[in-house]
Amino acid sequence: MKAFTIFGGTGDLTFRKLLPAFYNMAATKEAVFTHEIIIIGRRDYSSASYRQLARNWIKKFSRVPYDENIFENFALRIHYYKMNFIDKEAYRRLNTYYAEHNLTEHIFYFAVAPRFFSIIATGLLQVDNSNEAKVILEKPFGEDLASAKALNTQLEQTFTADNIFRIDHYLGKEMVRNIQTLRFCNPIFSNLWNSHYIESVQISAFEAIGIGNRGGYYDASGALQDMVQNHLLQILSIVAMEWPEQQTELFDAQIRVLKALRPIENIEESLVLGQYNGYREENLVAPHSRTETYAALRLFIDNERWWGTPFYIRTGKKLNKREIEIAITFRPAFLQKAPRNILIIKVQPTEGVYLQFNMKKPGDTDEIIQAKMDFSQDESHHRLNTPEAYERLLKACINNNHIWFTRWEQIEVSWQYINRMQEAYKKAGLPVYLYAPGSSGPEEANALLEQDGHSWLEVPGK
Ligand code: BG6
Repeated sequence: MKAFTIFGGTGDLTFRKLLPAFYNMAATKEAVFTHEIIIIGRRDYSSASYRQLARNWIKKFSRVPYDENIFENFALRIHYYKMNFIDKEAYRRLNTYYAEHNLTEHIFYFAVAPRFFSIIATGLLQVDNSNEAKVILEKPFGEDLASAKALNTQLEQTFTADNIFRIDHYLGKEMVRNIQTLRFCNPIFSNLWNSHYIESVQISAFEAIGIGNRGGYYDASGALQDMVQNHLLQILSIVAMEWPEQQTELFDAQIRVLKALRPIENIEESLVLGQYNGYREENLVAPHSRTETYAALRLFIDNERWWGTPFYIRTGKKLNKREIEIAITFRPAFLQKAPRNILIIKVQPTEGVYLQFNMKKPGDTDEIIQAKMDFSQDESHHRLNTPEAYERLLKACINNNHIWFTRWEQIEVSWQYINRMQEAYKKAGLPVYLYAPGSSGPEEANALLEQDGHSWLEVPGK
């Protein structure tokens, strides 16, 4: 029988994302999903009491409406196994448990802080067939370039390289998947997608929530490692890449962009870090922490397509909204007085596209006004019928489909880039600016764009 084992089974990710994703697969009768779910945690639950807990989270977070019968059937597959995963001896007992339940084919999910990856991988050597198992790793992969490298070497010694799935759930988001269609299947965009016509690109990922109970992990990571090094550089590389003729070439196309990122010369002009007021009082955060909960970056891609077009990224916690948008500003028309055309890809919470272009004001006048076309996918219908990011990626892993998982080389290049920025920022003695919760982040971030004569953009009228 097949087992899907989750290390970190009482964590936020399991409750909010993984269990609802499994439930959705069960409810929509996905044939690929035939696994028993083994939840590993240190707390004192029985399978019955854990299932009660799972019920509440699934009710809250599943995209498919909750159904008592479906849940009851589904819950029979959830088994709680109490174990301290840093105890080396515990893995022998886990192996016996698997043998007793005839669980011989494995997928292991590491939904824990990266410092535990190596301990768990070593422990799993004691589990029969673990060398043939698939393993899914949550980001961040390592804590910096050096630890990521060491971890990768160890994992590739324990598991087959082809069985390692490094998950980045942003690659499962509907509108991130849509960027390629939008770019390459519309000549009105594909023919203009370069620095001759595009003046700037902005990627904004706002979060309204703070760090919640994740202080232990977050204080050692910060926004650059938690969001930029992985999720947002993934988006940037898809926005900027050349056309991957085959979907299997997606990764090569992305990596070429990451390798072309211009080395930072002047860090003050390239990075602004911030921290929300009150962060240092959060649970498990150091009292004098300098960890950033906000980051804004100004990057350039040194290749023929993008020479001279700035890419701006900003992300933060406890901001004034939860929203991800990618804003493309086109260069001005020959008639300079006409405002610029703007295309905004809305990733979340609304999914769609906003396009701003110029028209003549109706009537006996030559005045120019801006037409604002705002397309949103039908959310209720769409949410019910479109698998969510984790659901898609779990299915892809079960189906052995690697395309939408991160490859090692991508991680290596992006760590290198982000580590260098962090070091330069520290070395220059630049401050981590405080910002008010509920604001749009530190004002100092505006200066990054103002030096190029730009300002942050968003879909108007929300
Ligand atoms: C996770 C980060 O990878 O992504 C979290 O660790 C962040 O800090 C989350 O909140 C954001 O994901 P989403 O899907 O809500 O945009």
